[in-house]
Amino acid sequence: MAFITCQHMYKKYPGTDWIFYNAGLSIEQGQFLFVLGNSGSGKTTFIKILCGQEGYDRGRIFVKNRNFRNIRRKHLHLWRRTLGVVFQDFRLLEDRTVKENIALPLVITGFGKKEVIDRVNAVLKLVDLQHRADVPCKLLSGGEQQRVAIGRAIVHGPELILADEPTGSLDDDHTRRILQLFTTLHRRGLTVVIATHDRRLPLAVKGCRTVMIRDKNFVDVVPVKRANK
Ligand SMILES: Nc1ncnc2c1ncn2[C@@H]1O[C@H](COP(=O)(O)OP(=O)(O)O)[C@@H](O)[C@H]1O
Ligand SMILES: [Mg+2]
Repeated sequence: MAFITCQHMYKKYPGTDWIFYNAGLSIEQGQFLFVLGNSGSGKTTFIKILCGQEGYDRGRIFVKNRNFRNIRRKHLHLWRRTLGVVFQDFRLLEDRTVKENIALPLVITGFGKKEVIDRVNAVLKLVDLQHRADVPCKLLSGGEQQRVAIGRAIVHGPELILADEPTGSLDDDHTRRILQLFTTLHRRGLTVVIATHDRRLPLAVKGCRTVMIRDKNFVDVVPVKRANK
């Protein structure tokens, strides 16, 4: 049984051409998946569809054999709990500290004080930001902010992490570091989906799967090193 299955999926926005047209994709539990695509190909749209923020026009999506339309209509809050989302623009509370940002999803869902402290400490260690715990996020570097965003996305213990261009604004060193962090999360059992325009990223993750959004559909590809870029 696949974790997520999209069948004959169609999606357009008002006034646009089809973004997805009869698109199909199965994501297995425990997979590390890159979704590649040029700018405007629908990567962010796909992430938004999976987190329930955007609908789709036709077709079916199943999450562990359950119809995603029903989940989206009636159980979106439960689905969101099994999900960690890293948005392209981080969406951090800039004036709040690293610790407060990471704690936010726990505080919102009513975790007890002790559990919040324990989980936040564990995550701070995982994303290597213990030394920055009490610093307001606006004072952090881009790479550090990205690690806070990832920490916040995983603190409630999701099964699936969706990340939209998580290395978009980072230099090569920080990119490598972020990919290592996702690899660690994957090794701990999370299913990882990373949307990116950067075709080099999959080369840095052993055993990952890569699909490309092409002709409004998903196509499996084998990433190859190219001389220039
Ligand atoms: N809310 C929206 N309304 C109308 N068009 C949109 C909206 N969001 C995205 N689009 C369009 O849909 C296409 C896919 O966008 P997007 O999913 O953001 O692509 P990517 O993340 O691959 O760059 C683009 O042409 C974009 O302009
Ligand atoms: Mg995008």
